[in-house]
Amino acid sequence: METTLVLIKPGGVSRNLIGEITGRIEARGLKVTGLKLINAERATVEAHYAEHSERPFFKDVCDYLVSGPIVALAVSGTNATKAIRAMMGATNPIEATPGTVRGDLALTIDDNLVHSSSDPEAAAAELKLWFPEGTV
Ligand code: CDP
Ligand code: MG
Repeated sequence: METTLVLIKPGGVSRNLIGEITGRIEARGLKVTGLKLINAERATVEAHYAEHSERPFFKDVCDYLVSGPIVALAVSGTNATKAIRAMMGATNPIEATPGTVRGDLALTIDDNLVHSSSDPEAAAAELKLWFPEGTV
């Protein structure tokens, strides 16, 4: 059993895809063990994307994450991180396989709808950041 982090980015919330994305996660057999709709603090987003702080897209991706409400989900299950990464699809939606969230619902890398933790270590750090109060 493992817990991982998913963020539904502002584009996903504004396009009313909270149910669609969360529904896919639940239908897979994974459990939602944390759930909140928030306007993220810039400092939280910058800490979340700290690994990318020197990349050219860092400012744009941080601007995007604070541009509107997001949903933070803690998702638990066997191999949850790997399962979720596969379900979300490649970072660039144009390369994401049909059947994935990005491959079905997104078109451009700057609006790729979701974040998911890259590995269990990243998941643990991200869960502390987004759910400091813990999950259920
Ligand atoms: O989200 P994921 O782990 O698949 O990708 P990442 O390489 O960790 O990049 C984090 C996020 O930065 C992406 O999901 C995109 O929103 C954004 N990004 C971008 O806008 N342009 C790029 N060339 C690379 C990433
Ligand atoms: Mg990443």
